Amino acid sequence: MAPGLIDPPQATPASSFAKASVGPKEAFIGGPQVFNKIAEEQGTEKQPAAAHPKYLPLWDPDTKYPPLEPFTHYEHGKDADPSFPELLRGATSVSELTPSTGSEVHGIQLSALTKEGKDQLALFVAQRKVVAFRDQNLADLPIQEALDFGSYFGRLHIHPTSGAPKGYPEVHLVHRGADDNTAMDLLKSRTNTVTWHSDVTYENQPPGTSFLYVLDTPAAGGDTLFANQVEAYNRLSPEFQKRLHGLRALHSGHEQAQNSKSRGSIVRREPVTSIHPLVRTHPATGEKAIYVNPQFTRYIIGYKQEESEYLLKFLYDHIALGQDFQTRVKWAPRTVVVWDNRVTAHSATLDWANGQRRHLARITPQAEAPTETPFNAHQQEFSESTKKLMNGNNGVTIQG
Ligand code: SIN
Repeated sequence: MAPGLIDPPQATPASSFAKASVGPKEAFIGGPQVFNKIAEEQGTEKQPAAAHPKYLPLWDPDTKYPPLEPFTHYEHGKDADPSFPELLRGATSVSELTPSTGSEVHGIQLSALTKEGKDQLALFVAQRKVVAFRDQNLADLPIQEALDFGSYFGRLHIHPTSGAPKGYPEVHLVHRGADDNTAMDLLKSRTNTVTWHSDVTYENQPPGTSFLYVLDTPAAGGDTLFANQVEAYNRLSPEFQKRLHGLRALHSGHEQAQNSKSRGSIVRREPVTSIHPLVRTHPATGEKAIYVNPQFTRYIIGYKQEESEYLLKFLYDHIALGQDFQTRVKWAPRTVVVWDNRVTAHSATLDWANGQRRHLARITPQAEAPTETPFNAHQQEFSESTKKLMNGNNGVTIQG
């Protein structure tokens, strides 16, 4: 069914289920009211000028985009050599951020990757979920070249409410300017600034391999947190996993659009809703991942309100509390973070000293509509055999 045409089930009107939890992220993105062009271009008494002025945001109220059309996504990760020869040739170090989630790579230049290298990038990121590449030149290239690089991984998404560099609507900007203290306003209504989400899951074909690169970063703080939704799924008991399979949830962009309008900002494309499975399968790795987030998921189809809220709250808490399947990227100049939005959730942390600039650009290629493969009894058998190994039955030691 086309996005935006999905009728909520009779017994569960959308309005009664909608939790407008978009405030924090929206507040974080800033907007035309808090944007000070002179301060950004020239600096202030306390802050230097923006390091990458060509990436400063514009909010054009007159440009509107039609609804997104379906397209066929080609998953390049499926073609990749899993030993990553093209990608990692020349790497001076490849380290794990945490054992389950995230890697950091030095010594290679993403923008110089061959076709094979890009295929391997897609697979490597799908496996590690998020990879921080240091010392990159992406931000220095002409913006069109950065977009051309990103477009290999899927059709570039144009965000419905984002400000963008003039002439490049496909760049999603995260921007807090010099002497702008309003991000911290969040703490007037919340105890923390963490807002777990996967990007724009209300789209019928939400993003896959995605890129975030730093333009200006505070002296400390403003890290991005990532949660591994495959590992979140794997931690559940087989019985609970089985219960999640077959369930679908509605994801909505309406509250984000409303929030943008209410701040006097733009809505470039009319908001949509989509229904996605609670568990999706990654096309290259075959891994199953939980696919709900408190930012955009509204309710589980066919469940009564209390049932839906109860199950979603369990899943959100499970993901948020699983610090042993999360990681944290510390930004440094010239860092590009590549992550797979299909199998992760992420959140900014708004903890940096007031008034410092934080400016990042995101390129967000769309991927396939989420699909679910059936609950896999083999996984259960594997768990049992793993248990046997752990009990020492095969004489194999598994490090804890
Ligand atoms: C995003 O939500 O895509 C941006 C995350 C961040 O600002 O750290």
